[in-house]
Amino acid sequence: MEELENISKEFWASRDNDNWDYTKTFRNRFIRQKQFLYYFFVPHIHANHSVLDLGCSNGLCSSFVISPYCKYVEGIDISPKFINEANEYAQAHNINAHFKTYDLAKAIDFKQNVYDHGMALGLFTCIIDNQIFKKMVALFVAAIKPGGYIALKDSVGENERVHQHDNYAANYRLKSTYINAFINNNCELILERQLGLELTEDHIGSYFFILQKK
Ligand SMILES: C[S@@+](CC[C@H](N)C(=O)[O-])C[C@H]1O[C@@H](n2cnc3c(N)ncnc32)[C@H](O)[C@@H]1O
Repeated sequence: MEELENISKEFWASRDNDNWDYTKTFRNRFIRQKQFLYYFFVPHIHANHSVLDLGCSNGLCSSFVISPYCKYVEGIDISPKFINEANEYAQAHNINAHFKTYDLAKAIDFKQNVYDHGMALGLFTCIIDNQIFKKMVALFVAAIKPGGYIALKDSVGENERVHQHDNYAANYRLKSTYINAFINNNCELILERQLGLELTEDHIGSYFFILQKK
């Protein structure tokens, strides 16, 4: 498990737009992801709100979709290159977003109840170990104010499957394990939509969820 965790970490820590561009690799899913954010997440965001984006990559969703509707966005990602790109773009275009590099698998000391809303799009699939996943969810939810909304996207299924291919590893969790990690931290599931239309043979698919912290 630890070896797979390190494979996943090394894969993502060395990414930049030249070797992984979600907008191109999964173009249709990315378009739907943005649509779902606009339809189901943005309506909860007010001009004086803050949003935390975990696994923000190059900040595309934060800068383009979220930042026009809120006071500021804070994004965190393990890849220094993604974070440099995100900050350069935000500064050059005067966008109210700030991004920093951090390995979220190492417990991060977020202040509690400080962000109005949170999002983690595709992050938790990269976290192989279930104990680390659960701790991350607890810290993430604790950082969001009661009543705040959390947008999630990940590949989940009817069985848990840890996938490894060359230098890539991912954990496709049981959908109930995934959602229960949030429900056990005082969240309510508000909305569930399938993001990619296709399912694998063992019924794994990309899903979008909205939860609310009670
Ligand atoms: C599947 S990508 C999704 C990117 C983006 N949120 C999106 O939807 O386009 C997963 C992101 O999580 C980041 N990530 C993976 N493991 C991480 C870790 N341990 N700490 C922080 N970020 C991590 C990766 O670098 C990558 O940007």
